[in-house]
Amino acid sequence: MVNITIDGIKTSVPDGSTILQAANAVGVNVPTLCYHPDQSIKANCRVCVCEVEGNRLLQAACSQPVMEGMVIKTRSPKVIEARKTILELILANHPQDCLNCIRNGNCELQDLASEYCIRENPFELKVRGLAKDFSTPSLFRDPDKCVLCRRCVETCSVVQSVNALGLENRGCHAMVVPTLGKDLIDSPCIMCGQCIHACPVGAIGEVENINDFLKAVADPDKVVITQIAPAVRVAIAEEIGLNTGELPMEVFVQGLRQIGFDYVLHTNFTADLTILEEGNELLKRLKEGGTLPMFTSCSPGWINFCETFYPDLLDNLSTCKSPQQMFGALAKTYWADKMGIDPAKIVSVSIMPCVAKKFEASRPEMRDSGFQDVDFVLTTREIGRLFRMSGLDFSKLPASKFDSWMGEYTGAP
Ligand code: FES
Repeated sequence: MVNITIDGIKTSVPDGSTILQAANAVGVNVPTLCYHPDQSIKANCRVCVCEVEGNRLLQAACSQPVMEGMVIKTRSPKVIEARKTILELILANHPQDCLNCIRNGNCELQDLASEYCIRENPFELKVRGLAKDFSTPSLFRDPDKCVLCRRCVETCSVVQSVNALGLENRGCHAMVVPTLGKDLIDSPCIMCGQCIHACPVGAIGEVENINDFLKAVADPDKVVITQIAPAVRVAIAEEIGLNTGELPMEVFVQGLRQIGFDYVLHTNFTADLTILEEGNELLKRLKEGGTLPMFTSCSPGWINFCETFYPDLLDNLSTCKSPQQMFGALAKTYWADKMGIDPAKIVSVSIMPCVAKKFEASRPEMRDSGFQDVDFVLTTREIGRLFRMSGLDFSKLPASKFDSWMGEYTGAP
């Protein structure tokens, strides 16, 4: 243990702790931007600077280890002024379109600008004017908004081992770019979307289909149906200010009806079918000598990963579709037939926890019903935005059940 003083509080922390860790241990919050608790220390934004007695220069709290007897000030006038200047410099290169940004209200830079009362910027606004990349159906990039924290790069390379993102050029010309400076769609990106979670701002985001949904429900000739993935039922609660899993399923179903879905069905119906189909395929391979072992996943990011990096294993993949895509094909054939609805009028929307599902739905081979099987995908976050737009009070909504034919399931998978 080492003995230190932080903002007048005497404390002991384990040797090797950073100033940031020590400050957190005594209840002092030091602002960060490039720091991520699950990643290596990059120390490139300097937002976390603190004063250490005896040091002429301010120290980055996220990278500076504490030492015996250290006296640290995390909010002296010198520190506050330095942090404000650092934020003003970052903002001088940042588009000022917060109101239109996908991360409006959920942006680490916006929060910092608010916390440090940045009202006017003494530095001239110089946005680089880089092209946005909307080449994939899942993710977009807005390089002008990048603050060069490199959290996305580490997530893509170290966590996902995909290496679709890297750093190009140096100094003020530095940029995070897809491999070899191509568009994202031409890089090895598997569209898993993990970089979105890592990005502190709106430099990477999910491609929104909210306007497609609003257009569909406004059309009286369309029958708008949805399937809900199991994980969404739990996570959606967070989007409406509840704890994870706190929103009762039947109230969620009612909320979906209220925002305009004509029928609410369940992906678990085809999760049951997937198990049956895959079980049959495995038995067939065992009996007839097919390729073994047989692998399967309903994650299209995982499938993309296999297709991109392990093409020699493609014969080991099950040929069955994911539950989302089985549902899409059946909704416009079996379900349309049972309900007596013209499949041409059906807009099939799935609600999924994953942006790679948008890519999967758009694959050209996913048209077995004679139409695009799943018309588009809304993520949990997009449904959260639609719920907020609708002004629903979920504490007062009455319960509602799933619709029939493809709303039942065993839950066994
Ligand atoms: S958070 Fe410490 S330098 Fe960026």
